[in-house]
Amino acid sequence: MAQALQRRLNSIDVSDPRLYQDDTWRPLFAQLRRDDPVHYCEASAFGPYWSVTRYDDIFAVELDHENYSSSSDLGGIQITDQPKGQEFANFIRMDPPGHTAHRRTVAPIVAPSNLANLEALIRKRTSDVLDALPRNETFDWVARVSTDLTNMMLATLFDFPWADREKLTWWSDVAIANVAAPDAVVHSAEERIAELGKMGEYFRKLWDARASAAPTFDLISMLAHSPATSNLQAREFIGTIALLIVGGNDTTRNSMTGGLMALVENPEQFELVRAKRELIPNLVSETIRYQSPVLHMRRTARNDVELAGRRIAKGDKVVMWYISGNRDEDKIDRPDEFIVDRAKPRQHLAFGAGIHRCVGDRLAEQQIRILWEEVLQRDLRFEIMGPAQRLCSNFIRGIRELPVRIVN
Ligand code: HEM
Repeated sequence: MAQALQRRLNSIDVSDPRLYQDDTWRPLFAQLRRDDPVHYCEASAFGPYWSVTRYDDIFAVELDHENYSSSSDLGGIQITDQPKGQEFANFIRMDPPGHTAHRRTVAPIVAPSNLANLEALIRKRTSDVLDALPRNETFDWVARVSTDLTNMMLATLFDFPWADREKLTWWSDVAIANVAAPDAVVHSAEERIAELGKMGEYFRKLWDARASAAPTFDLISMLAHSPATSNLQAREFIGTIALLIVGGNDTTRNSMTGGLMALVENPEQFELVRAKRELIPNLVSETIRYQSPVLHMRRTARNDVELAGRRIAKGDKVVMWYISGNRDEDKIDRPDEFIVDRAKPRQHLAFGAGIHRCVGDRLAEQQIRILWEEVLQRDLRFEIMGPAQRLCSNFIRGIRELPVRIVN
């Protein structure tokens, strides 16, 4: 029996992106949390790696950045290593002190005072997008709502040329693409590098213009004028821009889509927020936990280290599965259920923790909160008209298409 269990555990490889495309990951992680919470997979398409699957263990790795490095020199933050010599470094792939200085440069864009300034703009755009939706006709929620809203937000943060703003969504999709997947927007590392090179050229022109002008309150100007980031080398320049685009785009987009799915699939929860609008902030946190738009972050052990009784060797790949920590039954009550009035809705790992905790968390919550406020304001009611098309990725839990209809 024990041997059969061991054999079963040995065969588990949660890095397979099809688990997330087919949405079949739950039983595997439930078993790992129960029987082998810090699990070693000896052979995978991404080489050997450790999976950290329980909430508290993920938290412990996040806080121990001395032992668990994010550095791109050691492999970075995804289970997939970037091709050697072709890494796009940026501050999510750095340890202190470099990380600290770069993060500090962009943080003012999401400071509470700026978020307060953005509130009316986000509300106006959200209202316009919702008012333009067809009634009693099927449309794609991802394209018409989630992508459009997050794309406009990014264009604002960068003060990016408005007419070209769809390029931001394209570059974000390119940056996170699993090039081995049939649904990928680019099919090789070379193709990705070529596309991101074009992004670099486009941004370089904006950057040069802003560097030679007086500072303005947008991400490009902030980076161009900060001593920490004004002289980024070509690859780091591209990497930093890509980080900010992906960070602000995919994650919020997929929370907006995952939220609609969860509300329609749990109509009594939708009724509850309709009746009690003060639950909207809880709904936002619950949606982000339930969707877990970033499936994992990876670290590399800088030293031999012990975690939950397992010996991790220096140089090993350690993958923190947020999707699993957010379903940890020892930490979260009835974690597989979508419950908008949880006692502690903010207790989740979807934004990470520690020094790399998402810098845009409050902005993401604000955008999603305003979306549901405006949906409820209009009392929109939805029907899902077909299956969601999910992304074939082990990094982003993405929904590429969701056919819906407004039925009132
Ligand atoms: C629901 C939406 C979002 C989710 C779930 C999310 C998730 C995450 C996660 C898991 C991390 C890594 C945390 C860690 O390693 O501990 C992260 C980092 C980051 N996020 Fe987000 N994010 C979201 C929205 C945003 C937005 C709107 C922005 C920008 C406007 C953004 C920008 C970033 C940046 C720049 C980092 C790197 C931080 C660092 O290394 O210090 N994110 N995010």
